[in-house]
Amino acid sequence: MRIDVVTIFPDYLRPLELALVGRAAARDLVDIHTHDLRQWTHDIHRTVDDSPYGGGPGMVMRPEPWDGALREICARDPSRRPRVVVPTPAGRPFTQSYAAELAAQDWLLFCCGRYEGIDGRVVDVWADDEISIGDYVLAGGEAATLVIVEAVTRLLPGVVGNAESLTDDSFAHGLLEGPVYTRPPVWEGRAVPEVLRSGDHAAIARWRRDEALLRTGRRRPELLERVDLSERDRSVLARPAPVNSAPVSLGPTGSPG
Ligand code: 6GU
Repeated sequence: MRIDVVTIFPDYLRPLELALVGRAAARDLVDIHTHDLRQWTHDIHRTVDDSPYGGGPGMVMRPEPWDGALREICARDPSRRPRVVVPTPAGRPFTQSYAAELAAQDWLLFCCGRYEGIDGRVVDVWADDEISIGDYVLAGGEAATLVIVEAVTRLLPGVVGNAESLTDDSFAHGLLEGPVYTRPPVWEGRAVPEVLRSGDHAAIARWRRDEALLRTGRRRPELLERVDLSERDRSVLARPAPVNSAPVSLGPTGSPG
């Protein structure tokens, strides 16, 4: 997969050189290019913004540098077209299935807006996707791009050594993952759950499913609405909760809340 990122802060994308994404790039599993938007300005001040039509606070990114950048980057490989992504708090919510959809593309181009955003006309003309990573406001699209690129890259073939770790992920089955443990077997007087040391793989799988169900019911009950719950799953969720934790309520349709 090829990934281009256009930003006024190319150094902000340096973390893409590190850890999982950096290793994937070093192994040619992903080919990442970052670009300074100001390359496509033509005035001495290298201006990328201007005041908003209609008034109001802040500044808006001018369309011409963006159009120049997008045309030139696209022309570098005329055999294909990138999927153009604009991270914005006003976008479609980013999820694990959205990450999988992007991981199936062969070229992504991220446009990192700053200030109050990018002129709506250039977004209309160029953007395939406007994506939000959550219901809070960041100062620009760069941190969101880091998040999306990492979530997408780890789904690319060969990036994660043990492909099983992808199917075990939180959200892979629509549930949050439960807790995990390693040695020592007792730490500060707290033992690892006995079943995990039993060698009984069916019992371990059941215990993990139960922990995932209970955690999801307590922390993200709305997620259970989209999960196909067995009778056994429902009985686990109906189990009395440990003291100090809220019970999970299942509505008449079996959906929580
Ligand atoms: Cl994608 N961009 C910005 N600036 N803020 C955000 C966001 C994106 N997603 C949530 N908040």
